[in-house]
Amino acid sequence: MTSTTSTRADSASPVETAALRRAFDLARRGPAMDPNPRVGCVLLSADGTTIGEGWHRGAGTPHAEVAALADAAAQGHDTHGATAVVTLEPCNHTGRTGPCTEALVAAGVRRVVVSVEDPNPLAAGGAARLRAEGIDVLAGVLADEGRQVLGAWVHAVERDRPFVTLKIASTLDGRIAAADGSSRWITGPVARQHAHDLRAEVDAIAVGTGTALTDDPSLTARTADGSLHGHQPLRVVVGLRDLRDDAALRGPGGELVQVRSHDPHEVLVALAARGVRHLLVEGGPTLAAAFLRAGLVDEVHAYLAPVLLGAGRPAVDDLGITSIDGALRLVTRTVLPLGPDVLVVATPEPPAQES
Ligand SMILES: NC(=O)c1ccc[n+]([C@@H]2O[C@H](COP(=O)([O-])OP(=O)(O)OC[C@H]3O[C@@H](n4cnc5c(N)ncnc54)[C@H](OP(=O)(O)O)[C@@H]3O)[C@@H](O)[C@H]2O)c1
Repeated sequence: MTSTTSTRADSASPVETAALRRAFDLARRGPAMDPNPRVGCVLLSADGTTIGEGWHRGAGTPHAEVAALADAAAQGHDTHGATAVVTLEPCNHTGRTGPCTEALVAAGVRRVVVSVEDPNPLAAGGAARLRAEGIDVLAGVLADEGRQVLGAWVHAVERDRPFVTLKIASTLDGRIAAADGSSRWITGPVARQHAHDLRAEVDAIAVGTGTALTDDPSLTARTADGSLHGHQPLRVVVGLRDLRDDAALRGPGGELVQVRSHDPHEVLVALAARGVRHLLVEGGPTLAAAFLRAGLVDEVHAYLAPVLLGAGRPAVDDLGITSIDGALRLVTRTVLPLGPDVLVVATPEPPAQES
C-alpha cells in the first residue's frame, strides 16, 4: 500500500487522488437542491487506509468533514495523524453547524487535500486557518471535476446570483408555438420526462405571465407515472398582470411567487434572497429574450423536435441583433438523443457577462 506519509506537500499521492474520486462520489449523494454545496470527505490513516467517510446531507446536518470524523470514531479509528481528503475547502465559519476547521484540528488531522477552494467569502479562509495550526494543506486537486460536482452552487456563489438555465422546447425551425398559439406538445414523452427530471434538480422555475395565462401550466416536477417528485421547485411568474384565481399554478406543487417586474436582475435578487441557487427559465419568448439581453443566461437546454411549423412564435423574441456578426454564439457542451428528439446543452463563451 502506498504511504501518504511520504507525500510531498505540493502534490497528491495516487492514494489521495483515488480518495478524492471516492469523495466526489460521496458528495453526489447529497441533495441536488439545497442552499449548501454537495461535499464529500474521506479520511485516510497514515498508511493510506480509509478510516472514515462522510458527505453533507443538506442544510442543518453535519458537514462532510464532521460526518467523516464521526464515521471514523464510530468504527473506533484514531484520527491523529490522518489525512482528510475533501471536495471543497473546509469551512471556517459558524453557521447552523460549527467550523469544520476546528473539528479537523481537534481530531489531530495532519494533512488536508482539497479539490475546490471555497468561493464563499463567509466560509472561506479554512485553508489558511488549518495552515496556521501547522496542518499541511494542498488545494486545487482535480478542481475541474470538483467544480462539476458542486454544479450551480459554485457559479451562484462566485457570481453572487442564481445560476440560470434557459430551457427551450422547439421545432427544428425554432418555433415554440404554432400560428394559432397551440404548443402542446412539440417534443415527445422522453424529452418531456427529461425536462421534468431537470425541474426536480433546480431550486426554482420561472415563466412570464404570458405563458402562465396562455398555457395555464402547473410547473411541477413529475415522475414518469405522473406523480409529483419529492422535491418541488419554487414556481415563479415574472410580470405585472394578475394570475387567475383558478390557475393550475395555485394547485399542488412548489410555493408560488410572482415577481412583478420586467427586470431580470430584480428577479434574480428576489430569488437569491429566498436562497435560490439554480433557476430554470422556461420561457416564453419574451422572458427568454429579456434574460438573454441582460447577459443573465449561463446555460441553454434546447430540446429540439424533428417537427417543422414554418410559422408561429420563435423560441426567443428580438434580441436586438441585426447582423450575423452580432449573433449570440454558444458553445455546445452536450448533445443527447431523447427518443425522436435531441437535447443540446450549450453555454455562452466566455461566461455570461452581466449588463
Ligand atoms: N414550447 C415551449 O417550450 C414554450 C415555453 C413557454 C412558452 N411557450 C409559449 O409562449 C407563448 C407566450 O409567449 P410570451 O412571450 O407572451 O410569454 P412570456 O415570456 O411567458 O410572458 C411575457 C409577459 O411577461 C411579462 N414580462 C416579464 N418580463 C418582461 C420583460 N422583460 N419585458 C416584457 N415583458 C415581460 C409581460 O407581461 P405583463 O404585462 O404581465 O408584465 C409579458 O407580456 C405561449 O404561446 C406559450 O405556449 C412555449
